[in-house]
Amino acid sequence: MTPDDKRGTIAAELRAAGCIAAEEEAEELTSAAAGDAARLQELVARRCTGEPLAWLTGSVTFCGQTVLVHPDVYVPRWQSEPLALEAAARLPEHGTAVDFCTGAGAVAAVLARLRPLARILATEIDPTAVACARRNGLEVFQGDMSASLPPTLVGQVDVVTAIVPYVPTWELSFLPRDVTTYEPHLALDGGADGTLLLRRAVLEAGPLLRPGGSLLLELGGQEADLLQPLLTAGGYWDVQRRHDEDGDLRAVFCRRR
Ligand SMILES: C[S@@+](CC[C@H](N)C(=O)[O-])C[C@H]1O[C@@H](n2cnc3c(N)ncnc32)[C@H](O)[C@@H]1O
Repeated sequence: MTPDDKRGTIAAELRAAGCIAAEEEAEELTSAAAGDAARLQELVARRCTGEPLAWLTGSVTFCGQTVLVHPDVYVPRWQSEPLALEAAARLPEHGTAVDFCTGAGAVAAVLARLRPLARILATEIDPTAVACARRNGLEVFQGDMSASLPPTLVGQVDVVTAIVPYVPTWELSFLPRDVTTYEPHLALDGGADGTLLLRRAVLEAGPLLRPGGSLLLELGGQEADLLQPLLTAGGYWDVQRRHDEDGDLRAVFCRRR
């Protein structure tokens, strides 16, 4: 069997298991196996059960750069790329940014690449994700939201990004089976209405941000409406809502007075 035939067979197997981009995935798994036939068979079998491709290949491409993703760590989504790019656009060359709930560190890694002279700090509660983000070269503080950050940051930060868990608990069972089976609930569950961690991000970003600094939140559903009173009370202005190409609400960007 030629290598092309082999990849075709793998793609057919992946397609039958429900993988949409079967040809690309066959290519990636073949390259991850590096010529080891038994390893390739194992990777394909695991992918057919729904295990995230990034856990099998060890990385994902985010904003055109490779981000390492360890098993059991939330896989950064391409839908978050516009938020990362907007954060970079708002971050001064020598500025300071904090990425709450960094996971593998995709957003922080993009900031570090696009603003190499800026200071980029990240927080994360899950030790597995902390280790992964550190392997991506990031300065990560392990702890609950902002709790572990140095106190000297108060009033000094130009940009806070927060892609926190924001799926309402009752909606978790409606997520794709692969996501609920494999990805950690700690990374997804946003509490009863999805805003439990979002509210904390708004409250905890406030003291960190300098006047005029930006807060960028990823969210969905009705969460922007639910958060608006807290944003107003917290002195945030220039509140902009961003929708994806399907017209679904994806993010809120705002500034601190
Ligand atoms: C939806 S994932 C997003 C990860 C990353 N921001 C990204 O976009 O790839 C949310 C992350 O928040 C972390 N997390 C959950 N609760 C947290 C908390 N209280 N403090 C810090 N991190 C938390 C999870 O472990 C997970 O890595």
